[in-house]
This record gives sequence, C-alpha cells and structure tokens, in this order.
Amino acid sequence: MYLLKFFLFLFSFNALALVVYQDGKFIKSYNREQFLKIGESEKVKFLNHINNKSSTYIGISINDLIKDLKLNKSDIEEVVFECLNGYQPFLNFQLFQNRDAYLTYKSAGAKPFTRFSQKTKEIVNLGPYYLVWKLDDLHYKHRLKYSSIYKIQGINFKTKLFKLPLKDSTLSDGFSTYKRYCISCHKIKNQGGTLSSELLDSKYLRNEVQFIQYVTNPLGMNPQSEMLPFPDFQNKIYKIKHVFQLLNVLRSAKNKEKLNKKDINELNKVIKEFSTPTFGKPLEPENI
Ligand code: HEC
Repeated sequence: MYLLKFFLFLFSFNALALVVYQDGKFIKSYNREQFLKIGESEKVKFLNHINNKSSTYIGISINDLIKDLKLNKSDIEEVVFECLNGYQPFLNFQLFQNRDAYLTYKSAGAKPFTRFSQKTKEIVNLGPYYLVWKLDDLHYKHRLKYSSIYKIQGINFKTKLFKLPLKDSTLSDGFSTYKRYCISCHKIKNQGGTLSSELLDSKYLRNEVQFIQYVTNPLGMNPQSEMLPFPDFQNKIYKIKHVFQLLNVLRSAKNKEKLNKKDINELNKVIKEFSTPTFGKPLEPENI
C-alpha cells in the first residue's frame, strides 16, 4: 500500500513531465532531468511589445527535441500544444522552419518563471514549459505573428492531414501544396493563417507569370517582403501553378467546367476542417 502511494506520488510529479505524441499517439514522456539532456540549454529573449520590456528565458530548442525523438522534419505538418490550462493551440510547422523556437523552463537570473497576463490581468506561472521564439532581429510587427504559449505540458506532432476529396489531380495537388506551404500565413475564405493576406483577394491571381515570380522570389517583386521564397525543388513551378489554378477555381466561377458547385462546397468544407484544430479553441493572436 505504501509502495503504491509512493508510486502515485511519483506519478503526480510526472504530471509536470513533457509528454510527446505523434498523430495523437503517445511516443515519449520526459521528466525534467531527461528533458535537460535533450540538448544544450540556451538563453532566448522575449520582447513584450506592450511595455517594450524584454525578459530572458532559458530553454532547449524544439529542433533538438525533434532530433531526440528521431522525427523526420519533412513529415511534420503541424504542432499542437497541450497546456495545463486546457488551451490547445495548433501551429503550422512552417513557422518552426522559419524561426527557432525554444521550450523554456526558467527565467534567467533569479527572476520567477512568471509573467503578467494581459488577458486575465494577473501574474501567471509559465511552467512547466513556455514556448519562446528567437525573434530579436525581426520588426515588432512581424514578431506578433509568433505566439508565445505558456503552461505547455504536451506536444503533438501531426503528420497526417486531410486530403482533398476531389478527383482532379491538378487541384488536389494545388490544395496539398497550398496546405503545406501557404496556409500557415495566408487565409483563403477567412480560413488559415493570419500572418498575411487573404489569398483569394490577391491581384496576382489574374497573372500567372507574376504569381509564380512572387512565390519563387518575393523580394524580387517586393523589396519589403517578409514572405519566404518557395523551397527550391524540381517540380516547384508545377506545384505553384497548381496552387494558382486552385485559387482561381475558388475565386471565381470562371472555371466552372472544371468544378461543380458541390465540389466547391466540398473543397470549402475541407479547408474549414483543415484550419480548425482537432480539439480545443482556435489559436488567438497571443496566448496572454
Ligand atoms: C512565412 C509566411 C508566408 C508563407 C508561408 C507564404 N506567404 Fe505569401 N506572403 C506573406 C506575406 C507576409 C506577404 C505580404 C507581402 C510580403 O511580405 O511579401 C505575402 C504576400 C504574398 C503574395 C502577394 C500579395 C498578395 O496578397 O497578392 C502572394 C501572391 C503570396 N504571398 C502567395 C503565397 C503562396 C502561393 C504561398 C504558398 C506557396 C505563400 N504565399 C506562402 C507570407 C507568407
């Protein structure tokens, strides 16, 4: 009986472990000691845009965690965080390709691992883990796009997502390309990432050549561009053309012969499902 109690006691400590899932299935749990062995702890600065104060936290990079789990980065589509307060935001993996993120576990110096919550107007504990991005060199306007998420206790790396239920191979390829490379930042029909514009309103949808130019070399088209160029691989132009066609089909009835209304509805349904987290509330601009 005492032994059982002892184990239960240990287990309650484990409630503060970091639990990792892949596609919703448990793969590994780290207690703090194991977590610290994943990689080298580093300092990362968080700049609060509201009071312009910065705080420094100490943590281990998500990249090191992925390496430790032996996950293949190119398989990961999105990352869902499980927080102690029931919050379960999901982030497109593209964000982690753009910027380094750290699972921090304490503040630098002797500062408590807490922060003031703008939402609840009180001091909140950030632990067990607080996701902080390395954004020092980014303009604050663009920093806002990267949510800092606190009270993280679990991470679900998702590799499988919806497929387009349409026969047309061009459009389904366009959809999976869009989903893989664009949705993290661009909405279509108000669904998807909020980092950038509604893609169905893009003036470039009227000009395929310019669209391809923008996507392959955003800086060439717009010296202020914050957008990442499309990754360089063999069939990339076809992939971008397929996105172009998909967007145009969605945008207007011009290509009606390709898709009927039922298909468009089906497509919208999938996009909606895709951009809704499997559980919990949708991600708010900042979890504060
Ligand atoms: C990392 C975020 C990010 C990703 C991923 C991304 N974009 Fe963008 N995109 C932006 C931002 C920000 C802008 C606003 C202008 C700028 O910074 O270039 C933009 C602008 C654009 C524009 C021109 C502006 C407009 O609305 O007409 C087009 C076209 C475009 N993106 C297409 C795409 C396509 C297609 C993909 C996927 C292959 C994609 N983008 C992926 C961030 C992104």
